[in-house]
Amino acid sequence: MGIRLLSAKIFLIGFMGSGKSSVGRALAQDLGSYFLDTDALIETDVGASVLEIFAHQGEAYFRDKERETAAWIERACSEAVIATGGGLPLAVPNLGHNGRVIFLDLSFEAVLSRMNEEERSKRPLFADPLKAEALFDARHKVYQRLAHHTVNVNQPIDKIIKEIKEFL
Ligand code: S3P
Repeated sequence: MGIRLLSAKIFLIGFMGSGKSSVGRALAQDLGSYFLDTDALIETDVGASVLEIFAHQGEAYFRDKERETAAWIERACSEAVIATGGGLPLAVPNLGHNGRVIFLDLSFEAVLSRMNEEERSKRPLFADPLKAEALFDARHKVYQRLAHHTVNVNQPIDKIIKEIKEFL
């Protein structure tokens, strides 16, 4: 694969439903790089869906898996675009030592309007929208603090990719 602009790992952070996977795939394709998704890596490793992991092993176990996955990425991978689960930056606050961190920013109302019933049902922390909103408010400043760059994702994907590339 021809890696041109990329010279590091690029971590996409942000709340559930902010488009980390779709933006990540498009960005990786544009950069001629690989795309990784921490939720998918954990699901493959554990052999269960995120929903099942939360239900059977609990959230603390899932957060341990997130730390383990981030440590594996740090060791094993030098250049890639990585979509992180919405809670990963809290479990792994030193993400920025290990690559460029981009926060995909979107209002909670926009998150709600983008997520259909099926999307919500896959996310245990979205089961109660009121609790999800409180989580959103608490996390927003953390995402902002950890990010090297914040991009408003309430715009067409080509513009989002262009803005991220300009920052890189
Ligand atoms: C979580 C976000 C989810 C997934 C898990 C927990 C969170 O990932 O990791 O359900 O704590 O915000 P997405 O952000 O990809 O939905």
